[in-house]
Amino acid sequence: MREEYVTWAEQMLEKTREKMSWVSEKNRDKIPYTTDNEGNYDDRADTTRAWNPDDGLNWWTNGFWGGILWMLYQDTGEEAYAQIARNAEYKMEQCFDGFYGLHHDVGFMFQPTAVADYRLTGNERSRKTALHAAALLAGRFNPAGRFIRAWNDIPGEDTRGWAIIDCLFNLSLLYWASEETGDPRFRQIASMHADTAMEHFIRPDGSVNHIVEFNPETGEKIKSHGGQGYGEGSSWTRGQGWALYGFLISYRHTGKQAYLDTSKKVAHYCIANIPQNGIIPVDFRQPHEPAWEDSCGACVIAGGLLELAKCVPELEQDLYIDAAMRILKAIGETRADWSRGCDAIVQNCSAAYHNPVHHITMSYADYYFIEALYKVTGKGTFMW
Ligand code: GLY
Repeated sequence: MREEYVTWAEQMLEKTREKMSWVSEKNRDKIPYTTDNEGNYDDRADTTRAWNPDDGLNWWTNGFWGGILWMLYQDTGEEAYAQIARNAEYKMEQCFDGFYGLHHDVGFMFQPTAVADYRLTGNERSRKTALHAAALLAGRFNPAGRFIRAWNDIPGEDTRGWAIIDCLFNLSLLYWASEETGDPRFRQIASMHADTAMEHFIRPDGSVNHIVEFNPETGEKIKSHGGQGYGEGSSWTRGQGWALYGFLISYRHTGKQAYLDTSKKVAHYCIANIPQNGIIPVDFRQPHEPAWEDSCGACVIAGGLLELAKCVPELEQDLYIDAAMRILKAIGETRADWSRGCDAIVQNCSAAYHNPVHHITMSYADYYFIEALYKVTGKGTFMW
């Protein structure tokens, strides 16, 4: 890693430490996702609000707040971060009682919270929570199609056979469960799902489908859907990031060369499409106008590229590191709010191309931005 990159990332981390010291205190009883017009974080754990079954405590991003705090705890050793993270983690345990709203994203929810807590502090309660979540995730496996079912029923859609590229991140929880218990079933399911994703989600040019629909009885592939991107056949940037980084997770846990090769293939496609200014659109195939951006997808891609650089020979590393730094510098220097006017750091995120609202903040953009900064400086643990 070039020294100038490390110095830059250290400067960004210094600003992050300063910002998170007051943001964490201000929001200590919340589980935030996004900020309102005044820059204040919302609270997905607010049980007085009429959330839908999957967007209150079950909301799939709820693990990222704790994930940010655990990274800061590991970095600074300040106990307050651990307390606030654990506060959120213990609230999330209630999801198991409700059960109905839970989905495949229990990996995103409990890997950066319960698994992180257990790894960093040895908390036995967190171990049980994480194993419980892993068992629920394994229960969503469809043996006929060898995929993990993504979402629950959506009005007007039969989603029993839907798998989505994002799920590659949920597999971490399954790999961890096998490594922790010695029971290979979790790893076997994870690896079968990753194989299915390799076969059916990755296009010959290295771009990636968001949603693939299988016949839930026979496992036969039916079709793909555009999902959160511009449309069928397009290239939702965050989905490219989930694939690039997600196959590396499976590679890290299994050593299977095909996962590394697939990650590289997606990475090369992404690098060929990253604009010169490093600002990432919502979809690499969206029209030029409106120029909707997704800083969150940008941070996921950057994190994947940095992780990929660690898995290849030295001669190949600069290609990935330079591309990641182009993205991170664009975020840190032009899309970050370091002031007290907004609780979130990373600006200009988009949940989906066709959402009516764009350029919002999203907790997982901050998570992946901060995680990437730690990767550049060589600090932190691989949490996935
Ligand atoms: N996992 C859904 C998203 O990236 O928005």
